[in-house]
Amino acid sequence: MSNIELDYLRYLGANLSLDLTRGKPCPDQLALSRGLEDMIQGDYQSRDGIDTRNYGGLLGIPEARELGARLLDLDPAQVLAGGNSSLALMYQFLAFRKTQWAHSETAPKFICLVPGYDRHFSVCEHLGIAMINVALTPEGPDLSMVEALVEKDPSIRGVWCVPKHSNPTGHVYTPETVQRLAKLPLLTQSDFVLMWDNAYAVHDLDEDVPPLESLMAHAEAAGTADHVAIFGSTSKITLAGAGLGFCGLSPSVLEAFQRYLEPQMIGFDKVNQLRHARFLDDEHKLKALMDAHRKILRPKFDLVDKKLKPLSAQSLAAWSQPLGGYFVSLDLKAASARQVVQLAGAAGVKLTPAGATFPYGDDPEDKNIRIAPSFPDMMDLGQALDVLVCCVHKASHDAASQSH
Ligand SMILES: Cc1ncc(COP(=O)(O)O)c(C=O)c1O
Repeated sequence: MSNIELDYLRYLGANLSLDLTRGKPCPDQLALSRGLEDMIQGDYQSRDGIDTRNYGGLLGIPEARELGARLLDLDPAQVLAGGNSSLALMYQFLAFRKTQWAHSETAPKFICLVPGYDRHFSVCEHLGIAMINVALTPEGPDLSMVEALVEKDPSIRGVWCVPKHSNPTGHVYTPETVQRLAKLPLLTQSDFVLMWDNAYAVHDLDEDVPPLESLMAHAEAAGTADHVAIFGSTSKITLAGAGLGFCGLSPSVLEAFQRYLEPQMIGFDKVNQLRHARFLDDEHKLKALMDAHRKILRPKFDLVDKKLKPLSAQSLAAWSQPLGGYFVSLDLKAASARQVVQLAGAAGVKLTPAGATFPYGDDPEDKNIRIAPSFPDMMDLGQALDVLVCCVHKASHDAASQSH
């Protein structure tokens, strides 16, 4: 029996229960926002005297909209401060958009950049929007491909983008990419929308990550501001399950979206908005908090890189070197990702299902795996990565022995 087989058997017998699936903040990160609890202390009045405990104010209290505007590089008047999830706002926004496509005879389609965020794909599937894969490059989407598709097919209604520290590759769109994307809606007569999910706007792992250009500013200059929808949240700034979600839209689209939401609710949770607005009431507090997150996360990302290194020496894998965000994108040899995920699962290490980073769960080359190192502690992470590396070796070894 080979050393690889022996190592794998040892892991099988080790009764491990480790999880590298979802990009969740770890308990130490959540503890950084303990101060949120002290922000109300019986004072529920917003700056303008709104009693946040009561009904109303669908767009959010002014100071929460200002916080969203700072995060997403927008004007507060363009921002809706919603509930605790930007993903929910994205879903609601596309459901709203779909009501406007009802007259169209062709089924709607969306461009999805791959590898990408599985939950964007689920939103499309759930709303009956067909998905077209386009490659994501280190500069952003393959723009020639995106432009050609949009020009040719009027049933394409939009594109999903995670412009900064993209999930899962960590890529940041270049200024030229953002400028060109702002002009994309000019290429079609369809009611096109750029779904700009800036989930990792301030989530840098390095001190000097180049800033992202403002899509809204370029869209305003190009006359396409009604075709952009910008999203973000404090899920990975404060509390992932109890943060604030934001949406940024042009004035006319914001008004129309507000009318769409009105029958659904009287208002979002304004007490949580007030708590957050007070906790992060200036730029320095936000920066200090993100620095503290970085100190926890950076060593975990460094550990991923260190543990995977032996795989690149043997040309078994290549992986992203993100400057921020929550993920590492691991590319294995073709036709091996499913097997590796299955081997790791059997040894007690849960990985995101192979294929999840592609629409319909279908990675045509079966080679991409998303690694989420934020949640486990350093010891568990190291052990989970050792198992993963062993499984990659075993899959390659098995493939070599089958071909002999
Ligand atoms: C790209 C991206 N968008 C959105 C979300 C979820 O955001 P929220 O918690 O605001 O719903 C995530 C979470 O992993 C994400 O990676």
